[in-house]
Amino acid sequence: MRIDILTIFPDMFPCVLDASIIGRAQDKGLVDIRVWNLRDWTTDKHKTTDDTPYGGGGGMVMKPEPIFAAVEDIRGEEDAPVILLTPQGRLFTQAMAEELAQQERLIFICGRYEGVDERVREHLVTDEISIGDYVLSGGELAAMVIVDAVVRLLPGALGYERAAAEDSHATGLLEGPHYTRPPIFRGWKVPEVLRSGHHAKVAAWRRKQALKRTLERRPDLLARAPLSEQDKQWLREMGYQGPFKNDSETE
Ligand code: ADE
Repeated sequence: MRIDILTIFPDMFPCVLDASIIGRAQDKGLVDIRVWNLRDWTTDKHKTTDDTPYGGGGGMVMKPEPIFAAVEDIRGEEDAPVILLTPQGRLFTQAMAEELAQQERLIFICGRYEGVDERVREHLVTDEISIGDYVLSGGELAAMVIVDAVVRLLPGALGYERAAAEDSHATGLLEGPHYTRPPIFRGWKVPEVLRSGHHAKVAAWRRKQALKRTLERRPDLLARAPLSEQDKQWLREMGYQGPFKNDSETE
């Protein structure tokens, strides 16, 4: 996969992109991430990337010319999704990370100031993504969040291949608790079943814990999660009274 990131603050990226799983994925050749300085596509002496808004009002707006020139240069003849990071975009989810991880190429434009000239949205960008209902100083942190969530899904990126499939949200549920050695720490014991070596019992315990935790913390997820009849029975026993995904489908 190739990822291009267009920003006026390229220095924000190396520390995040070169560390940990993303860094290793790059070293392994699973992803080629390039960060570009938008100012390199300006044509004036001051390398201007923003200007005052038509119609007045405060703040500055990112100019369209350098953004179009940069994307057209970087993209070349290839077709690639061009994603603008903005608080007005679709709310980023694990399902979107999985979709993006299927792409050969991704181009991210990090918005700044009050926003970008609307013609960038209308004629260049193919998707707009927000990482949450709050306003950041720019799209850079959002781009890093998305790149991290996507790259860790690439086959070979994680040491333990099944780990991503079992993540919180990947299953539609939150994960249950994890434990490691020692078996007793300050008198607090690791649940006996995890040390039993009985794989089926461990799997059932984990599933039940995931359901319990999701019920306690994010019951809204239960209505959308793919659940077995056994899951549903456990949830009812735990006191869940809300709907299940298949209920409405069969109605
Ligand atoms: N730029 C500013 N705020 C943002 C957000 N919440 N998500 C994505 N990009 C942004």
